[in-house]
Amino acid sequence: MSGYLGWVTVAISTMLLVGCSLENEGSPRKALPESNSPGAQLLKKFCSNCHAPPQPAIHNHGEWKNIVLRMEDHRIMNGEEHMTASQIEQLSGYLDKHAGGSR
Ligand code: HEC
Repeated sequence: MSGYLGWVTVAISTMLLVGCSLENEGSPRKALPESNSPGAQLLKKFCSNCHAPPQPAIHNHGEWKNIVLRMEDHRIMNGEEHMTASQIEQLSGYLDKHAGGSR
């Protein structure tokens, strides 16, 4: 998928499917936890093209890894650069560390 049409398709489906929940719970205006840490940098780099980077607290511990892998599929279908295995680990670790719910 390339170019403007692909972007619009993803943007629209994202808005339909997640727009509301991400905006309410993970307001893009709220700073990310440890916003200068490597994990937060990865989140901003890899997770902000299609929707606002989500706040880690919107999911519980243990849930993020699968979501990151699903998002990696979205990224690949969108023709974006792959994340490396270590980037996926680091990003999932960061999200999990600041996730909601009890430890
Ligand atoms: C190529 C576009 C794209 C990128 C980049 C992207 N996402 Fe998404 N995201 C989507 C789409 C499309 C949906 C709605 C469908 C779905 O949930 O799979 C979504 C939904 C979500 C949701 C809400 C659904 C849920 O299970 O809570 C979260 C949270 C999320 N993304 C996190 C991330 C994270 C973390 C990253 C970075 C690793 C990321 N996204 C990068 C396209 C993208």
